This record gives sequence, C-alpha cells and structure tokens, in this order.
Amino acid sequence: MLEQVLKRIEDRRDQAVAGLTQLLQIPSMSAKPEHASDCRRCAEHLAGALREAKLSADVRETGGHPIVLAKNAHQAGRTTVLLYGHYDVQPAEPLELWESPPFEPTVRPDASGHQAVFARGASDDNGPVWAHIEAIRAWTQAAGELPVNLTVLLEGEEEIGSEHLERFVEQHRDELKADVAVISDTSQFARGLPAIVYGLRGLVYVEVFLTGPSHDLHSGLFGGAVPNPANILCQMLGGLHDASGRVTIPGFYDDVVPLTEAEREMWRKLPFDEGRFLSEIGLSAGMGEAGFSMIEQRWARPTCDINGLTAGYQGAGAKTVIGAKASAKLSCRLVPNQDPAKIEKALLDYLRQRCPASVKIEFAHHGGSPGVLVPHDSPAVKLASEAIATGFGAKPVLMREGGSIPVVGLIKRQLGIDTLLVGFGLPDDRIHSPNEKMDLASFHQGVRTAAALYERLAKLA
Ligand code: BES
Ligand code: MN
Ligand code: MN
Repeated sequence: MLEQVLKRIEDRRDQAVAGLTQLLQIPSMSAKPEHASDCRRCAEHLAGALREAKLSADVRETGGHPIVLAKNAHQAGRTTVLLYGHYDVQPAEPLELWESPPFEPTVRPDASGHQAVFARGASDDNGPVWAHIEAIRAWTQAAGELPVNLTVLLEGEEEIGSEHLERFVEQHRDELKADVAVISDTSQFARGLPAIVYGLRGLVYVEVFLTGPSHDLHSGLFGGAVPNPANILCQMLGGLHDASGRVTIPGFYDDVVPLTEAEREMWRKLPFDEGRFLSEIGLSAGMGEAGFSMIEQRWARPTCDINGLTAGYQGAGAKTVIGAKASAKLSCRLVPNQDPAKIEKALLDYLRQRCPASVKIEFAHHGGSPGVLVPHDSPAVKLASEAIATGFGAKPVLMREGGSIPVVGLIKRQLGIDTLLVGFGLPDDRIHSPNEKMDLASFHQGVRTAAALYERLAKLA
C-alpha cells in the first residue's frame, strides 16, 4: 500500500508546496495580542485541511490561542499515534532584515543553491506540520484510510510557553490516549543526514528588574555617590561565569548526570565541522565551557545566558544620565535530571545576594521545563528509523538537541507515553531569525517519511 501512497505524494508535489505557501501567509504570531485572530484563523485553516484529508477535526477553546484536535475513525487492535505540532510562529522582527516579507512566502534558492520556501514558520513548525497533513491526505486518497489510529493535536502557544496546554491535556487524557507520540519539530543533523532526536534541553527563563533612585539622575551631579542600577546589574551578570566558562551559581551542576564515554564516542563520530559551523553564523571562534566539544556544549551541558538587557539611555548620541532602572532577561538551558524549580531558586538567590540593600530587586517568571531523554533503542525508534530511510533515502543518526520542546515531558507525565522526535528541518533554516526557510527537498522527504512512519508504526500493535 505504501507504494501507492508514495506515488500519490510524488504526483502531488506542486500542490503540497502550494498548500504550504497558503498556510505560511497567515501571521500566527502567538506573542502578539493583535494577531490573536490570525492564530485562530490559522487553527481554522488547519482544521479545514485535516477535514479535507478525511479526519474529523475541530478547533477547541483553551482560554488562550485555540488547539486543533483531529482524529480518524479509531479501530480496536490498531496502533494509536498522537501527532503533536504547533501552528504558532515567532514574531518576525526585525523586518528590515528579511529579503522577502515574512508572510509572503517566496520560493527561491538559498545561499548554497537549494530551493527553499522563505517565510516565518516555514521550518518551525508549519512546514513539518504541513508535511504530515500531506502524508495523511495521501494515505486517505491512495489507500482509503490511514493504517493507524491517528490523533492530531496542533497547539498555538508553543512559542510562548504553552500556558494552556497542560490543563487541556489533563482534561482530555482519554481522547489523547495513544501508544506513541510523534513530533516533527527538530532538525536533521545535516543535509543528507536525517536524525532521530532522543534528548532535548530544558529551560528556565526569568527577568530581573533593579530599581535604584526614584528618577533618572544627572551623572555628573550624582555619579560616584549613588548606586547605579546599570553598574550593579553588570556586576551581577558579569559574575555568572568563571574564566573556564562554567556557571558560578552555587549548586548549578549538582544534578547534572555526566556523559558516558559511549555517548561522547557516538557524537565524536558525527561529521561535524566546527569551523564551518562557526563561519555559517559569521564567527571565527566559539566560546564556552572548557573540556567539552561544541556538540557536547550545545546538547548536553547546562547554560545561563543573557537574552535581553535594558539600562540607561538607549537613544542616539550621548546623554549623561544614571538611569533609575535596569533589567535583564535570562535563560538557563537545562539538561535532563536538573530540576527547573531548583535552578530558578538558585539563580534568584545568587542575584539577590549580589544586590546592595539600597537597590530594589524584583523578578518575573517566564516559565520552565525540564530537559528530556527518550528511549533510543525501542521498537518504535527502529520503525521510525526505517521510515526515515524510506523517506530520505538515508539512515538517520541518533542525536540530542539543545533546544526545548516542553510538551515531550508533558506527554510522558500526563499520558505515560514516549515521543518520537523525527524532524525535517535543517540546521541552517534560521528558525526564530529573519529569512527563515524550509528546504523543499527536505519538505518532500518529510512528507514521504511521515507517510512511511504511519505504515511502520502500524506494526507496533
Ligand atoms: N522547535 C523549537 C525547538 C527546537 C528546534 C528543538 C530545533 C530542537 C531543534 C521550538 O519551537 C522552540 O523554539 N522552543 C523554545 C522553547 C519554548 C518554551 C519557547 C526554545 O527552545 O527556545
Ligand atoms: Mn518549534
Ligand atoms: Mn520555535
């Protein structure tokens, strides 16, 4: 049956790209309140596409951006697959750096001459979501029905911390019951080298606010005699790392499980060119924790990074002023077994202890999730590996990733099942950046992989 399905996919290549292009025109930026109606429109659009593919689909309220929930007719004795994806996208700013507007998807060659569709959300995550919808459509058209029981959950708040997802999953546990979850929201290792991801880092995100004097002060009349929140913030943040690149927060590494030599060896064998990795992002040298390779630093070591910094005068030219306030946005990437609540407390304690009594310190919590490891030698992983070989024409490597997909932990906690992370993106897709793209060859390979995956996973039952 898969042969006919793959044939149908081949025949529909142009329509698949046309459908993706339509989807990418919807500016479903979840972070921006003024785009809430676009998020809803995107959810409706996807529910419509799933209905066209003969699933029953509806748009469910969550209190935030809605969730799309879709199903085929489930039959006893079949494998049940839960497919998760997110239709919300990151804000497109800075707009002036886009070569074509973020919501006017454009097909053109990328820097290395490969055809790609350029648009916000092309790779993260609407391209991969659309690849699955095409695969589902091909199954129903060519074979009459899917070979598995399928439940599709598409979220609209992934990029802003999935505030309403946990409650939704909790309340729909029965409807979401499945044998295995599938997520295509990660990347391949490289072009020609697809991957199954078995580990992701977690995240703690906090904002710190310092307030010194009641109003901005002339830096000549007051400077030297009063606490300057900008200076104090720099001192606090400047001490977060030692000279060897380690995070200095007490207890930060306590729960980090050392990498095994076997895992390090497996990663050393991957064809990773440090110089090329750096030059593609405009750098000639990296920087980080001593004693770990660049892959280890990104996949398996915890971090603490400033993600935003606001203090003093921000306009053109010089203004002699001591600003009354200073603030910073900080993220810690966590590795499995670190507890987000414990790390957040350690970070806050660290900052509080370094703040003089004359300055007020306050915090905002922007969510957290633990790092995850999923099995990499299960029957489901073997089947996924075969599906990738069919879809991409190459066997996948096993890898971890440095990014976070909090729903993986949630699915394990609430539904008791493991997730297959089968990604279609490429590492140079510029997700979250200007000129995000989805490589078209990878997209078509993704559609084939998704189709083959449903066929393979049927064998789990
Ligand atoms: N799809 C990404 C995460 C990702 C990308 C993992 C590539 C592995 C490879 C996801 O949409 C994302 O951006 N996650 C956020 C976390 C979220 C809580 C905002 C992240 O990692 O910053
Ligand atoms: Mn994503
Ligand atoms: Mn993202």
